[in-house]
Amino acid sequence: MPAHNLLLLGQGTAPVCFLEENKVGKAVQDPALDLRLNSKAVDFIVDPKELGRPLDLADIFGREAPLEVEIGFGYGHFLVRRAKEAPERNFLGFELSSECIRKTISKIEKAGIANVRLVRMDARLGFYFLPERSVSVTYMNFPDPWPRKKHKKRRLLDGKFLELLASRTVDGGEFYFVTDHDDYLEYALELFRESPYWKWEGEEFTLEMPDYFDTKYRRKWERMGKRIYFLRRIKAVHPVGIRELVEEVKEMPHVVLEREGIDVKRLGELVGPEIRFDGGVIRYFDVFENQKGDRILLETLVSEGGISQRFFILVELSGGEVTVKLARRAEVAVTTGVKRAIKLVAEKLGGKILRTNIGN
Ligand SMILES: C[S@@+](CC[C@H](N)C(=O)[O-])C[C@H]1O[C@@H](n2cnc3c(N)ncnc32)[C@H](O)[C@@H]1O
Repeated sequence: MPAHNLLLLGQGTAPVCFLEENKVGKAVQDPALDLRLNSKAVDFIVDPKELGRPLDLADIFGREAPLEVEIGFGYGHFLVRRAKEAPERNFLGFELSSECIRKTISKIEKAGIANVRLVRMDARLGFYFLPERSVSVTYMNFPDPWPRKKHKKRRLLDGKFLELLASRTVDGGEFYFVTDHDDYLEYALELFRESPYWKWEGEEFTLEMPDYFDTKYRRKWERMGKRIYFLRRIKAVHPVGIRELVEEVKEMPHVVLEREGIDVKRLGELVGPEIRFDGGVIRYFDVFENQKGDRILLETLVSEGGISQRFFILVELSGGEVTVKLARRAEVAVTTGVKRAIKLVAEKLGGKILRTNIGN
C-alpha cells in the first residue's frame, strides 16, 4: 500500500477576495480546502487539475481489486460498512458536500480501513475519469428527489448518465438505485426501460432487499413508515463511441502569447454574455486585476454535458510574454470546455501565440 490512505479530489468554490487590500494575489481558501489541509486523515491530496484520464486506479488504491462506487454517499454509513464487509474490494465515493466528507473521514478512521477513497466532485463528472469497464458495482442511495417540475432536470439520473455509467461498468456489472420517492421511482423505471444498456432480472423493483445496508435516510424513512424502492440493474450492452467530456490530460492547458500587441482591457468584453461552443456554454462573470497590473483573473463558468464548473483563469504578464492558464487554486477538472475557455481568453487578448498545448 502507498503511504496515503485517503484520496480527496476536489471540485468546488474557487478562491475569492483577490482584490482585498494588502491581499492582492493571495487567495482565501474555501472551507473544503481547509478541511483537506487540516485533516490528519488526508495524507494524499490530488488536485483535479492534475488528474489524468483515465484514472490510474491501481496507483490510487495501491492494488488492483474489483471496484465499487457510491454516488452521493452522505454521512458514509453505507460506504464504510460495505468497505468493512468487503476488504478484498476497492471503494470509491463521489460526494459534493464537504461536511459529508468530513463525517465520512472520521468513520473511515474509526473503522481502520484502507480500501476507501473519497472524491469531492459531481459524480456525473467524476465518472468520466474512470476507465471503461472498471466498475463492478455502483450504488445510488436516496438521491435528492428534486420534486418540483422545473427542478427535475437537476436529478442525478438521466439517460446520458446511464450511458456513461454503463460505459464505466464491467460487462455484467451491477447498479443499485434506492429511493423513497414515488415520482423519482416512476422516472427511474422509465429511464431504465428506455436505456438499451441496462437490464433487470425478476421484478422491476422490490420493497425489500434484506442484505442491503442501511443509510441515514433509510433509517429515517423506515422509522417514518415510508416505502423504500430498491432497483437492481445489470449492465447488458456496452455503449460505443460515447462523447467524452474529459480529454486525456498530460500537462496543464496553457497559451503563451507575445506581450507586444496584446490589450488586457479587451478582456472586459468577455464578461456577461453566454458564449456557446459545440457541446456547452462558457460565461465569464468578472475580471480582477492586481495593483501592478501583471496578474488578471477571470471568474469563469463552463457548463457542458449537464455539468457546471466555476473557476478562475489567470492571465500572467511577465517579461515579453503573457501566459493564460488555470489559476493555481482553480479546482477544476480539465474538460474540453475548460480548455476552450482558456483559449478564448488568449484570443481576446490578441497578440501572437508563441506556445500552446491546446489544440483546435
Ligand atoms: C439525500 S442525500 C442521501 C445521502 C446518502 N446516500 C444516504 O442515503 O444517507 C443525497 C446526497 O447526494 C449528494 N449529491 C447530490 N448531487 C450529487 C452529485 N452530483 N454528485 C455527488 N454527490 C451528490 C448530496 O450532497 C447528498 O449528500
